[in-house]
Amino acid sequence: MTNTNITYITTFEKEVAEGLTAFPKSLSSKYIYDKKGDALFQQIMAMPSYYLTDCEFSIFEEHREAISDAFSHPEGFDLIELGAGDGKKTKILLKHLYKRGDNFTYLPIDISQNVLDGLKKSVQKEIPGVAIQPQQGMYFEVLDSLAQYNSRKKVIMVLGSNIGNLLHPKAIEFLTHIKEVMSASDLLFMGFDQKKNPQTILDAYNDPEGITEAFNKNLLHRINTEMDANFDADSFKHWETYDPETGTAKSYLVSTKEQDVTINKLGVDIHFAAWESIHTEISQKYDDTIVEWLAAESDLEIVNQFTDNKGYYKNYLFKKK
Ligand code: AVJ
Repeated sequence: MTNTNITYITTFEKEVAEGLTAFPKSLSSKYIYDKKGDALFQQIMAMPSYYLTDCEFSIFEEHREAISDAFSHPEGFDLIELGAGDGKKTKILLKHLYKRGDNFTYLPIDISQNVLDGLKKSVQKEIPGVAIQPQQGMYFEVLDSLAQYNSRKKVIMVLGSNIGNLLHPKAIEFLTHIKEVMSASDLLFMGFDQKKNPQTILDAYNDPEGITEAFNKNLLHRINTEMDANFDADSFKHWETYDPETGTAKSYLVSTKEQDVTINKLGVDIHFAAWESIHTEISQKYDDTIVEWLAAESDLEIVNQFTDNKGYYKNYLFKKK
């Protein structure tokens, strides 16, 4: 049902109202990440079944010299990371670049000042000589402003297969926006989780401990606390699918019974039929053909790629065409 008298306050509220009154129902995975969601994602990254983190970590360890060679420039460069997180993987590279005597500044960009404060502290402690200039804000606001006053080589990094939360048309928009702030000698270094045994992918998003389930259900808890709602999270089942044809893993919360949920702050009642679903996340998987196509659609060109010993994950290096 809809209520035309609502004054929408936040984008989160607007998207919740739209997503839960639509058919089929959906919620955006970007709202999973509050303090609790961030902590659950840290736990996910530590799970052996969530191979993505270990694979990207091993790529950095294995290929740090070749990656450093590609980034390096005689006049120095700016290493800009979108969505830096705890910097665990990046720090391997920072250490190596610093040891080589490369002239560079590390500019992590994140929406959360809290995340940036923690990152700056740990980098200063572990690699005291590295110049770090955290930039708080939305990716493209910061990126656009950096592009205006920065003249030396930029290397833009997006790790963790974060692009996988975007359907291909949105991924092309994202890549195109990055391309627009790049100069001829700039580089984009981006992680893409690869297609593999479908079971391995399902297991990464369906741990028996229920960490991924709790991560997914954090959406319902956030709506309960922030919008005065009464979701009974126990009556929803976490469900993961993977389509090997499209390479799309999808997360759902499935209502195990017919029920109504009231979201007081939005003035709406949401009806669930038994076994009705809420689609909550996509985690796209790729191969070279798809990445080449995404690059071509965005006027980018792959200049190099690095993978782990199982070929589960790849970091591609792009330049402007
Ligand atoms: C951070 C978006 C890359 O999709 O693999 C982990 C988030 N979701 N487990 C992913 C996530 C469930 C993750 N990304």
